[in-house]
Amino acid sequence: QDELFKKVISHAKEYGFIFPSSEIYDGMQAIYDYGQNGVELKKNIRDYWWKSMVQMHENIVGLDASIFMHPTTWKASGHVDAFNDPMIDNKDSKKRYRADVLLEDYAEKLRQKADKECAKAAKRFGESFDEAMYRETNPRVKGYLDEANETMARMAKGLEDGNLEDVKALIEEKGIACPISGSKNWTEVRQFNLMFGTQMGSTADGATTVYLRPETAQGIFVNFLNVQKTGRMKIPFGIAQTGKAFRNEIVARQFIFRMREFEQMEMQFFVRPGEEMKWYEYWKEQRMKWHSSLGLGEENYRFHDHDKLAHYANAAADIEFNFPFGFKELEGIHSRTDFDLKAHEEHSGKKLQYFDPEINKNYTPYVVETSIGLDRMFLAMLSAAYTEEKLEDGSERTVLKIPMALAPIKVAVLPLLKKDGLPEIARAIISELQLDFNCQYDEKDAIGKRYRRHDAIGTPLCVTVDHQTKEDQTVTIRNRDTMEQERISISELGNRLQTIVSI
Ligand code: GAP
Repeated sequence: QDELFKKVISHAKEYGFIFPSSEIYDGMQAIYDYGQNGVELKKNIRDYWWKSMVQMHENIVGLDASIFMHPTTWKASGHVDAFNDPMIDNKDSKKRYRADVLLEDYAEKLRQKADKECAKAAKRFGESFDEAMYRETNPRVKGYLDEANETMARMAKGLEDGNLEDVKALIEEKGIACPISGSKNWTEVRQFNLMFGTQMGSTADGATTVYLRPETAQGIFVNFLNVQKTGRMKIPFGIAQTGKAFRNEIVARQFIFRMREFEQMEMQFFVRPGEEMKWYEYWKEQRMKWHSSLGLGEENYRFHDHDKLAHYANAAADIEFNFPFGFKELEGIHSRTDFDLKAHEEHSGKKLQYFDPEINKNYTPYVVETSIGLDRMFLAMLSAAYTEEKLEDGSERTVLKIPMALAPIKVAVLPLLKKDGLPEIARAIISELQLDFNCQYDEKDAIGKRYRRHDAIGTPLCVTVDHQTKEDQTVTIRNRDTMEQERISISELGNRLQTIVSI
């Protein structure tokens, strides 16, 4: 799995999907740039989300709120006081870690030891092996699992009670060492706020500290009445938004899974109080259907219902995806009650209420939120799509089997030779198609090599112009997944492509 992840990362760079930011200056941790193919794929995922949320629902409309918001927004939302991660520094290596992640990694290693022990036993006992029973009864395996659970439970309690000394004591007791230096010389555990702050206005005027938004959702809450009134929206209705969010993550790892600058696609659905659980279930189902429609494999998704809820939520679930490093959160669906609107009413002194003509009542709506990270969705797609295939003739190819409708380039038009008028025909075909489809002209290298290049970036169709084209106006089209080729008339190309781009 580790091997696969490394391959996905280097493939993403080699084929112009993702580069480390400011690479010539050795890059910055957890900040990435999207290259020529990455930007197209990212845009296509965003558009697909937007289409399914806004265009396909007459009661959902869009919004593009600013990144900077009035500083009181973040007081009301709870981010100033509570958007923290527990941080610990190693005194010798001067490296900073998240205390909870150090302990989670420790527990994970114990679980892996238990798995290894089980695998060994399975080999030993063969068919008579009952893994569940062995897990329960083998003292060593049980010991590992109990210790992992006890560590997590004690950590959770320490964090919940604000007892950071106990979290530090736990790290020391377990003998956790700095992964870089091996040193066990730790500082105290401190809470670290994840918001990036900056100054607005010159200091002479009295500058104010403003924050780069850590989520897009608050832009929706503060505009709730603007949109409701001007759009004459009736509850239930939703507001959708995509845009950048910023978090000063302490642990930046796993490529674009956890970034400091990332993009969210969020939708707040405003409902009548008391009806939120119905809509929460509805949106859980709808969002899973959206994921299924992408065809990345149903087995790669699962729900994780939260037992412990944030202070603002009365129900919450994650849609987890099977990333190369295991099942991890891809999207959150939260029933946020009226917490946010009420908090903004309180801090702004403005009423954020709705008059419901059906029941003849004023109320503060409840909110069900769907929130997905665009970069995380990109990573999910890239890792599920990355395929190495052995072909019948013994050769190998790497192909990105991304949903065809979302591919960065829909069609490559390739003259078989760089002469005999073939390039001119290829360019004429492109000029016919490029208004509707993202096309690429490619004449360099042998045709087989060009096919491979387009497999590697997931281009669904390669159109080849050869000498026969001059005679009968036909071209060959090659399908990315089946590698099958057929001859069709140039005039049919547009229709054929149309079937590919519709998901
Ligand atoms: N408004 C709710 C909210 O922001 P969240 O669970 O903190 O909830 C929602 O974030 C989604 O945003 C996550 O499921 C994840 O896909 C994405 N996300 C959060 N932090 C991220 C980060 N540092 N890098 C990339 N994506 C992130």
